[in-house]
Amino acid sequence: MKTMIKISVGLVAATLLMTGCVGDTNAKSSSKTEVVQTVSEESLGLRKTDLYSEDATVSTKTEYRTAQATTSSRIQRAFQDAPPMVPHDTTGMLPIKIGDNQCTGCHMPEIATAMGATPIPVSHFTDFRPKHKMVNGVFTKAVDNLKNEVAIKENKQLQGARYNCSQCHAPQSQGNLLVENTFEPVYTSADGAEKSSWNGTKLTESLDTVIGGPSYVTEEDLDNSESKAGVLEGAAH
Ligand code: HEC
Ligand code: HEC
Repeated sequence: MKTMIKISVGLVAATLLMTGCVGDTNAKSSSKTEVVQTVSEESLGLRKTDLYSEDATVSTKTEYRTAQATTSSRIQRAFQDAPPMVPHDTTGMLPIKIGDNQCTGCHMPEIATAMGATPIPVSHFTDFRPKHKMVNGVFTKAVDNLKNEVAIKENKQLQGARYNCSQCHAPQSQGNLLVENTFEPVYTSADGAEKSSWNGTKLTESLDTVIGGPSYVTEEDLDNSESKAGVLEGAAH
């Protein structure tokens, strides 16, 4: 038999009844009513079923959009430079494989405009990965991390790290949300809801960590003797 846990909250509500007759100033009376509020198991969680009915508990269905590419409407970005969500049907396009990436078929910059698709941005053609080397069996780093060097190189090729589009760009389910999302983004660019602000020059602009920049780690930094936080004996920081 099903057990029901009931949490009873006794509330005593005082009700003031006002009755009024013109000319009668003593016509006020008060009475006390006891209201017992019950919280059922079904109302405690988001699932709206009790804890014993697993079979009857079904979550809301994932419902991806069905509008075909070129007929869908773009989804506002969640924050400045967030990877846009895929607004169109992706049936038959996933998983992306080495020899089968249909996304690039419409989104590569040279085709995208004609397709009405957003072109793959410059960041996806930029190599952010330092190319470390083995020289005569010795591992050599391409950048010196102690000098805060970074490797940012614009390229003509779509970078391997961006090949698997669905790793970052997800389709959106339109199922009924159990909890309404009231998040409101604040964008740093006026058109941040529709566009990325990253572009070729913005990639390195204001980055003081690019080779030659002023933020090299100095001998004093390494010595760390002036640190207010103290010094680690025998260890660099
Ligand atoms: C048949 C061409 C076509 C293919 C294939 C295609 N897209 Fe699209 N995509 C579009 C078009 C066109 C739009 C603009 C919305 C529309 O018109 O439907 C779009 C919009 C998008 C957007 C939103 C861009 C924005 O500015 O908000 C993303 C992200 C996206 N596609 C990713 C993908 C991914 C990932 C794949 C592969 C799984 C893919 N697309 C495959 C044509 C295509
Ligand atoms: C490693 C994560 C990652 C992968 C993989 C990736 N993207 Fe993106 N994408 C992003 C981010 C982050 C942004 C927003 C910032 C930017 O534009 O660089 C973005 C932006 C975009 C935009 C919007 C550009 C604009 O100007 O508004 C399109 C279109 C897009 N990506 C398509 C693709 C396609 C197609 C692929 C696969 C070939 C892909 N992306 C792979 C992370 C990724």
